[in-house]
Amino acid sequence: MAQGLVTVAYIAASILFILALSGLSKQETARRGNVFGIAGMAIAIVATIAAPQVVSYAIIAPAMIIGALIGGYVAKKVEMTGMPQLVAILHSFVGLAAVLVGINSYIDPNSVFTGIEKTIHEVEIFLGVFIGAITFTGSVIAYGKLDGRISGTPLMLPFRHGINAGAVFICLLLGYWFLGVEDHGGIWLLLLMTLIAFAVGAHLVMGIGGADMPVVVSMLNSYSGWAAAATGFMLGNDLLIVTGALVGSSGAILSYIMCRAMNRHFVAVILGGFGTGGGASAAVEGEAVPTSHDNVAEMLSEANEVIIVPGYGMAVAQAQQTVSEITRRLKAKGVNVRFAIHPVAGRLPGHMNVLLAEAKVPYDIVLEMEEINEDFAKTDVVLVIGANDIVNPAAQDDPNSPIAGMPVLECWNARTTVVLKRSMATGYAGVDNPLFYKDNTRMLFGDAKESLDLVLSKIES
Ligand code: TAP
Repeated sequence: MAQGLVTVAYIAASILFILALSGLSKQETARRGNVFGIAGMAIAIVATIAAPQVVSYAIIAPAMIIGALIGGYVAKKVEMTGMPQLVAILHSFVGLAAVLVGINSYIDPNSVFTGIEKTIHEVEIFLGVFIGAITFTGSVIAYGKLDGRISGTPLMLPFRHGINAGAVFICLLLGYWFLGVEDHGGIWLLLLMTLIAFAVGAHLVMGIGGADMPVVVSMLNSYSGWAAAATGFMLGNDLLIVTGALVGSSGAILSYIMCRAMNRHFVAVILGGFGTGGGASAAVEGEAVPTSHDNVAEMLSEANEVIIVPGYGMAVAQAQQTVSEITRRLKAKGVNVRFAIHPVAGRLPGHMNVLLAEAKVPYDIVLEMEEINEDFAKTDVVLVIGANDIVNPAAQDDPNSPIAGMPVLECWNARTTVVLKRSMATGYAGVDNPLFYKDNTRMLFGDAKESLDLVLSKIES
């Protein structure tokens, strides 16, 4: 393929990626956004392997086939609940690729840069490898934490901020020496920095615990974008620069939005330690009152206003189809049913929206937290399905709670709240929930799908 054609293909792919991002910002257009993204990536791959610089397919072809087979298998096998782990481990690949390309680019005997061009090229290499190495180990640790292979409790080494700052300072020093070395003599400095950056990435994410992991995943997403952009500069590949910048900035914006949703400061998240708790959170007292499927069916049928709050447990139980059917039946009876979606409900951004869309719940009754939070006071029944942290009043009432300050769905203001879960166990942040002990709360114990199937069977169609 002629270089001109490759450039045109790169521009087309860049436009498709921008359209993909804008499509993904709304539920109604998300599917179209995905199609744009797939088309853009297909064009990018074809243009890259058909570019004049590629002289042999002996290595690329088998690598692509093996990669595609593994990718296809993993994508087919992964459960919706395992998505965050998958996303985290995929970020680690981008980080590792940036490290390998950077080192390779430095030792490339055909590299012909001199003078200021050489310095710029080496800065790109050093930065790309640094960000890539942090992204790699950080993402592997994030994968381990999300998958339960590594404890979610933050690792709090003494002087940990000092250790991180010291390590970054040593890397800067190594970078300064690296730029002064002739030919390829700086390889040891580059490798030493890579090892230190590996350790910094792992240490940074080990120090972040519990409820901050969603922000960490999107932050690593952003890092992986910047690592890709740096690789694009190294290789002189415009498409990689544009794509990396898109991923880097959208990941940063998503991290910011999530931080706001959890009332956390971005810097505080990066510095870690959240979830270890400063003081002791207030002990939760009282007795939880269980209810029956018949009662819940009756309450729902007689209500005028119902709000459903789905959480991680709905995803685990795969209860979304039953929820959708209950909604349909209640709406047919004239009950106004709406959904309240917390920005960090479940285990990945938009988790609940995806499940509800899959179960064909109409978009216009699925509302964001800020759109619906004030309406709980005029609601007859709230059905909390496998949610816990996102409806925990301690976030507002207990300044010592590890989730203090996190905005939550104020379902306790409704006339009655029914909570569906299997036990009195805590949620992701490991915090007790006073909601379960409130006078107007009823607990419906059991797997959410089994409970809702029974409730559905008792609501006349
Ligand atoms: P959680 O606080 O994790 O609570 C989920 C509840 O679902 C648990 O208390 C569990 O109680 C119940 N449950 C589990 N399986 C169930 C089943 N089969 N049937 C019925 N109930 C079941 O979830 P949430 O309220 O959605 O809050 C999300 C949390 O995850 C937040 O802390 C958030 O920061 C964190 N997080 C979010 C993300 C993103 S981006 N959304 C990513 C990672 C982490 P039982 O065991 O008693 O049933």
